[in-house]
Amino acid sequence: MSKPDANRQQTLDAFRLAMRHVASTVYAVTTGHGGDRYGILATAVSSLSFEPPSLLVCVNRSASLHAPLASAETFCVNVLGLGNRDVAEQFMTGRGADRFAVGEWEELHGVPVLATAQSSFVCRRAHCHEFGTHSIFIGELIDAKHRADAAPLTYYDRHYIDISAAPEQATGPL
Ligand SMILES: Cc1cc2nc3c(=O)[nH]c(=O)nc-3n(C[C@H](O)[C@H](O)[C@H](O)COP(=O)(O)O)c2cc1C
Repeated sequence: MSKPDANRQQTLDAFRLAMRHVASTVYAVTTGHGGDRYGILATAVSSLSFEPPSLLVCVNRSASLHAPLASAETFCVNVLGLGNRDVAEQFMTGRGADRFAVGEWEELHGVPVLATAQSSFVCRRAHCHEFGTHSIFIGELIDAKHRADAAPLTYYDRHYIDISAAPEQATGPL
């Protein structure tokens, strides 16, 4: 391996290790296109602005969701709760429409919405920006649902963890 290649590999390894220890909420990003349903599990999701209410999702261009999402008018970001672990596992092991075989899925604004999710954000696809291997899809909010009784499903160091006890463990404001 040449020195620049070795340096790049070292940087990538450091990035992977550091990112593995970033605790992330787990999302099922879904869309409907041409009568079919598509979805992937994602953690690269963020709120973007309040005016207009919007969020962004980073999707690998090699993912099965990418092409349908690039042509769909709407998509949904489902925030998975602890009770949706079975949905997360089905998304990881299943392929195509089979990913929707587990969970209570409804259709809203033409996209699959998980009825039991902690929250669901239905968005109009407003913008797409390519960077490296991924596309950043920006969605403007059309509709949002939230369940106050759900606790977030969190991904940390390649495992799902329960952070719902964290507020009791907190030492107070920093
Ligand atoms: C916890 C977790 C988080 C993930 N986050 C993302 C993500 O933010 N963006 C993305 O494109 N793929 C992400 N992936 C990978 C996708 O879920 C999916 O497996 C991959 O894109 C291949 O999808 P395909 O089989 O539909 O082509 C994540 C996978 C896991 C297990």
